[in-house]
Amino acid sequence: MSPQPPVIAIDGPSGSGKGTVAALLARRLGWHLLDSGALYRLLGYAAQKHGIELTDEQSLGRLAAALDVQFDTSRLGQGPTIVLEGEDVTHAIRNEQVGAWASQVAALPLVRQALLQRQQDFQEMPGLVADGRDMGTVVFPQAALKIFLTASAGERARRRFEQLKAKGSDVNLASLLEEIRVRDERDTRRAVAPLKPADDAVQLDSTTLSIEEVLDVILNEAAARHLEG
Ligand code: DC
Repeated sequence: MSPQPPVIAIDGPSGSGKGTVAALLARRLGWHLLDSGALYRLLGYAAQKHGIELTDEQSLGRLAAALDVQFDTSRLGQGPTIVLEGEDVTHAIRNEQVGAWASQVAALPLVRQALLQRQQDFQEMPGLVADGRDMGTVVFPQAALKIFLTASAGERARRRFEQLKAKGSDVNLASLLEEIRVRDERDTRRAVAPLKPADDAVQLDSTTLSIEEVLDVILNEAAARHLEG
């Protein structure tokens, strides 16, 4: 059997910095990137567009299995352009509302089952950096390196606040903190693939660390496992 492309799994709650770190790490190593949260966001967005209730598990499972989405990575130095059913939704899926829809559809077993293979298909040479909630526990249990990245809820809300403000959104810190608490609660308590560290994950608290410091720790862990780009 030929060797499987190596995987680095980065899991953690929203606002822990995992998306930014995963993208930087993938670029540094020259590896592929899977932003698994984008798939759940896309599904939540598509469900709203098609008028499907966020509790209708059968219909959402079918929609997930047939989701017409392309990740166009041809723009050098930028994140992928995400096209859903011919519509560029790269920015539209990033707001808090879509995040809340994503968290709801992500709790449904048929949805997770339908998206499993789609996520595993990203595992290609020379390697994959995958970020999400269950990368190390369910989707890539054989990952060569698993990172569980956390930060205090207050710090995560503050980071989201700065991000959204920089984009010109009218945001309120207290309501962001509340949304983060609700989402954490739902993602952690759901029955299938809840947010939790894999037994063999390296746990990293980024509350007082910069993105560069987090990246350095992960690169050192990768080098210790001979995972080089
Ligand atoms: O990482 P994110 O904020 O883009 O994720 C949006 C939601 O999707 C999150 O609240 C939970 C869900 N999600 C998941 O259940 N499993 C994943 N692997 C990634 C995201």
